[in-house]
Amino acid sequence: MIKLKQALDELRRLGRLRSLTFGSGVDFTSNDYLRMSSHPALRQAAIQALRTEMPLGSGGSRLLRGHRSEHDDLEILGRRFFHAPASLFFSTGFQANYAVFSTLPGRHDLVIYDSLIHASVREGLRACPARSVKFSHNDISALTEILRNEGSKAENIWIAVESLYSMDGDRAPLEAIYELARQYNAFLVVDEAHATGIYGDGGRGLCWPLIQKHGYLNLITLHTCGKALGVAGGLICAPEVIIASLINRSRAFIYSTAPMPVQALLVRKSLEILGSAEGDARRARLFSICQYAQKYLGGPGTPIVPVIIGDDVKAVEVATMLQREGFDIRAIRPPTVPEGTARLRISLSCDTERAAIDRIAALLSPYIKRDVAA
Ligand SMILES: Cc1ncc(COP(=O)(O)O)c(C=O)c1O
Repeated sequence: MIKLKQALDELRRLGRLRSLTFGSGVDFTSNDYLRMSSHPALRQAAIQALRTEMPLGSGGSRLLRGHRSEHDDLEILGRRFFHAPASLFFSTGFQANYAVFSTLPGRHDLVIYDSLIHASVREGLRACPARSVKFSHNDISALTEILRNEGSKAENIWIAVESLYSMDGDRAPLEAIYELARQYNAFLVVDEAHATGIYGDGGRGLCWPLIQKHGYLNLITLHTCGKALGVAGGLICAPEVIIASLINRSRAFIYSTAPMPVQALLVRKSLEILGSAEGDARRARLFSICQYAQKYLGGPGTPIVPVIIGDDVKAVEVATMLQREGFDIRAIRPPTVPEGTARLRISLSCDTERAAIDRIAALLSPYIKRDVAA
């Protein structure tokens, strides 16, 4: 217990002690990019479903009594929507990533991952018997070098990337990475957490052009359902052998209660809405505000705008100043981001107002890169 207390004291000293706070002020923090979490049709669907005989809890593992038609219907839509041979739904994206990396790569395999990959992949890798090596963020030559030097020693190679990075908002060079993966016969695992619902035709993600060309040949995509989709969960799309392996061997899947049926139902409805003209309209509003924000706040022109402060304590001070002005903007500190890159992570939505961006840009002017903000 003394050690735990000391660890917390050390976090406080470093300006990294976290506590739970409710959201207040204008939301620039959530990942509800398309504001689907309050969509009237989803609310109505939930109310209607819960009025019926649908049980609230699934009651058990998917392999036992927990498997319900709502899960099955979502996975059928997942296959149709993403043109995937097979799909599998998990309670969270974290669980889905963990399942993939803790289950699929074998002892004689090699996993190569981007240095900014999400914690859920890293946790999966901690439970994974394969050797893993990271490559510098989005650096194709670094990835090529690892493949060239180490690829031939491995039985299978797995490459793990995000299509749009959660803390930097930049995109992976997916075409080039997929080309390399094919060249070395590696499996490419793409976490589409922050792209699903937003990018690609109908919100199918940034891998969509690859899928149209090559199908799911040596490809796995993960679509989290708690961000632009506004609900919760993680949907994995992959070749059948991958999904069958997860169903049969993933401890995170087998020894866990299946998601609430209503959760699966709402994810399905959300995908249906986002795949329609209404989804296009929401995306168009979001893209327009992304462009505007890039002009005044800098950043990558996506819904995630990082404003790097550097120092942890300073980042919290600046975030507090913005919060006092009525904006819910949080400081993100290590270990979530690399040392020395504490930042504000400003997330945009289709309902973000231009006037709010103007005000934030004025308040943050000392921290915004002049060349971009000009
Ligand atoms: C890139 C990435 N992958 C996976 C996850 C985990 O998804 P979920 O929040 O559904 O557990 C997150 C969430 O923060 C994420 O940003």
